[in-house]
Amino acid sequence: MSPTAIPIPVLPQAQDVPEPAEIRRWASERGILILAHSYQDGFLQEAAHFVGDSLELARAAAREQAHAICFCGVHFMAETAKILNPAAEVFVPDLEAGCSLADSCRAEDLARYQDFLAGKLGRRPVTVAYINCTAGVKALSDVICTSGNAREVVDSIPAGEPVLFVPDQHLGAWVAEVTGRELILWNGSCIVHELFSVDTVRRLQEQHPGAVTLAHPECPKAVREAADQVLGTAGMLRVAREAQDQTFIVATESNMLYRLNKEAPQNMYIPAPGASCACNLCPHMQKNTPEKLWRALQARQPQIEVAPEVAARARRALERMLAVRPAAR
Ligand code: 13P
Ligand code: SF4
Repeated sequence: MSPTAIPIPVLPQAQDVPEPAEIRRWASERGILILAHSYQDGFLQEAAHFVGDSLELARAAAREQAHAICFCGVHFMAETAKILNPAAEVFVPDLEAGCSLADSCRAEDLARYQDFLAGKLGRRPVTVAYINCTAGVKALSDVICTSGNAREVVDSIPAGEPVLFVPDQHLGAWVAEVTGRELILWNGSCIVHELFSVDTVRRLQEQHPGAVTLAHPECPKAVREAADQVLGTAGMLRVAREAQDQTFIVATESNMLYRLNKEAPQNMYIPAPGASCACNLCPHMQKNTPEKLWRALQARQPQIEVAPEVAARARRALERMLAVRPAAR
């Protein structure tokens, strides 16, 4: 293995926390579905019934048979689960696990900007919101997208309609490039992906000629341009599964490497370091721990609640996204 390849260990567990498989079995017996995003550490991924990207998790949460969901991810993901499945109890290991992107766009600021644009353009723009936003922002949006379907969602909007894309400026800029659409961008960004440095990516590429570089669309333009492919986490996994004995340089949150190594172990994965350190862990995702998961499962707390009128409008935008046909890529 290359000296730059950093394996992501499964966290050591505390004395009173059962093994991941035991936690999963315990939850199944009580009808609790544990969902985890691929940016959760190995322990939480192993404890989950289902691990996925934001789109797959939204679909899993919407399934009618999920009556109780413990969501290992960040707040907007659990909120999305509650909006799509209002009858279900949705609870999380840590209510404080937030997201810098979601924080960058407050509903009241968005409403003011939409009014300003309506005055300037003579009509309201279609608002496309990346799923990494609050329920309040979703409620003000026409359609939601994820990193896995942003291109198709924007393509589904009739040509000539002005489009406002919130809150991620980098994902928005990438979608504008691949769709050829002019988008009005909000200026939010992800604190994890913003820190990837094109110089360190280039250095790794020199050290590993023949490596394929994968960058998440939340990365800044210079990093995306240095990559061979720009893909959300589900796309990265698909490409890795199809490859054989390939070295990949991966510019996304480092826990993704746990999933890649587990599901496509035939390849080697090298995490792209950030500008100032080698770890690109999301501090929000990291708030969830095995202890907090175990406690949340037993207490079925803390629960996620969304005001019904906000949830109803947000659900419309989410359902419009879920109705967009995935591209055959
Ligand atoms: P996805 O690629 O799963 O959409 O995740 C990106 C992300 O930042 C989730 O917080
Ligand atoms: Fe938000 Fe970035 Fe963390 Fe995803 S990785 S939850 S976008 S801060």
